Amino acid sequence: MHHNLIPLFSADTIATRVKALAQRIDRDYAQDPPVLVGILKGAFVFLADLVRCLDIPIAGIEFLSLSSYGSGTESSGQVTMHLGVSAAAVQGKPVIIVEDIIDTGLTTQMAIAYLQSLYPTSIALCALLDKPDRRQVPVTIDYLGMTIPDRFVVGYGIDFNQQYR
Ligand code: IMP
Ligand code: MG
Repeated sequence: MHHNLIPLFSADTIATRVKALAQRIDRDYAQDPPVLVGILKGAFVFLADLVRCLDIPIAGIEFLSLSSYGSGTESSGQVTMHLGVSAAAVQGKPVIIVEDIIDTGLTTQMAIAYLQSLYPTSIALCALLDKPDRRQVPVTIDYLGMTIPDRFVVGYGIDFNQQYR
C-alpha cells in the first residue's frame, strides 16, 4: 500500500530539538542518575538519539511495551501491556519515561500508574511530539520536543501498521 507522505520536520530540526532536551535532562539529573524507560515500539529511535546526546551517567535503560492503537489511525482507547520492566531496575531511582507521541494520554496514564507501582523516587515524562487536540486525560510533559496538530504522523520510529518507521 502506498500513501502520500508530507515531510513535517527536517532531520536537522529533530536533531536540534533532541539535543536541547538532552541538555535540559543533563542539568536536571546531574546529581541523580535517572532510569530511562522507553515506550516500545515507537520511541526506540528517539530514545537512541536522546541517550547519545546525554552527558550525565544514567542508572539504566528499560523498555515498556504498550499499545493503544489497533490497525488504524485512531486510538482504540484500550491500552495493552506486552512487556513490563523489572522492579529492581526502577525502585528507589528517578525515572524518565520516553515516549514518541502523546495523543489521548491514555498510554502515558497507564505507563505512569504501572511505574508508580514499582516505587521509583520520581517519574518525569519526555516526549518527542505532543498532539494535544485529542487529549482524554490530563498529562504533564516535562520535556517536550514539539507540539503538532491532530494529524497522523510516521517516521523516526513511528509507524502506521508497522510500516514507515
Ligand atoms: P495515546 O495513548 O492516545 O496518547 O497514544 C499514544 C501512542 O499512540 C503513541 O505512543 C504512539 O505509539 C501512538 N500514536 C499516537 N499518535 C500517532 C500518530 O500520529 N502516528 C503513529 N502513532 C501514533
Ligand atoms: Mg507509542
